[in-house]
Amino acid sequence: MSETICHCMDVDRDTIVKAIKEQKLTTVEQVQDATTAGTGCGNCIPDIEDLLAENSPS
Ligand code: FES
Repeated sequence: MSETICHCMDVDRDTIVKAIKEQKLTTVEQVQDATTAGTGCGNCIPDIEDLLAENSPS
């Protein structure tokens, strides 16, 4: 398991990156729907935005 990005929902980096790539996600809302990451306190949303910027198809 890679680094935990969302501690509220216990979602790790690989899970989020995989969802972004496989489902071609482009927004935080889509990542929330796909993984539940970012649906708790919201503190990890900037990290999700970084992962989107790095991994979403341009
Ligand atoms: S750490 Fe992700 S919603 Fe709280």
